[in-house]
Amino acid sequence: KSVIVRAPCSTANLGPGFDVFGLALDAYYDEIQVIKKGKEIIIESSDSIPLEPAKNSAGLVIKEMSKKFKIKSGLLIKIKKGVPAGFGMGSSAASAAAAAVAFNALFELDLDHNTLIEFAGIGEKASAGSIHYDNVSASVLGGFVIVRTDPLDVLRIDPPKDLVLCVAIPKISVPKKKTEVSRGVLPQQVKLSDYVKNLSNASAITTGFIKKDVELIGHSIKDIIVEPARKHLIPGFDKVKSGALQAGALGVTISGAGPSVISFTSKFADHKKICKAMKKGFASANTECITVICRP
Ligand code: HSE
Repeated sequence: KSVIVRAPCSTANLGPGFDVFGLALDAYYDEIQVIKKGKEIIIESSDSIPLEPAKNSAGLVIKEMSKKFKIKSGLLIKIKKGVPAGFGMGSSAASAAAAAVAFNALFELDLDHNTLIEFAGIGEKASAGSIHYDNVSASVLGGFVIVRTDPLDVLRIDPPKDLVLCVAIPKISVPKKKTEVSRGVLPQQVKLSDYVKNLSNASAITTGFIKKDVELIGHSIKDIIVEPARKHLIPGFDKVKSGALQAGALGVTISGAGPSVISFTSKFADHKKICKAMKKGFASANTECITVICRP
């Protein structure tokens, strides 16, 4: 018996929604097949990922779920990575989400969404060092998600059909523990007035998703806390952002923990022009990038 699950990549934060907002993107997918076989948990993949279950985001999820549900059978996990790893596109989360959903289906556990997300979150820890549920929630549920913790309770909203994203993925070598590094530069305390501005924009983004108002979403992608602390990790960030805005993007920010940069646009924008502007911004810092135009 075996199950195959494909999970999408995602962008986290959307500016002011640090660790709270996630959006699944129809750009790249990870595929996981889980097969009942033998006595051990074994990972097979032709991609360069850790094959030891405890060091692999999908393997860790399957290991923990097997323990929790007292599964005696061994499992063969076949992983096909489609999401580029380490670029702020929720790569480890996509594998972790696919693994949790596949395990749930294989053993007919009928787990609810929050429980699935909780298990998928364990996999995130393998690569990010800390548990945050924004990317895994988006990969499990699709669409726009709002993560509430203590207790975990993820809300989901259907994104507007005319929202289009332009993502620029720079060709730079990212540190092994990239998310840890990019979380390490964040302030431990924030100014109350900054918090108020970010909260108002985050609220406006949520309203934009509820009202299917792409302009409101795009114009509220403004983060004065996390983006300023992280942008020095991304070569040419200011030029990438200003170029994209000039070319017609409604809002531009770091995708998740970076280094990819994401532009929020309407379907009427000139997406090729926006991608070109983002490429030019990276080129100003001698960095090449690939660009992707996608929808949620
Ligand atoms: N919210 C997380 C962060 C996403 O920005 O660190 C990491 O993928």
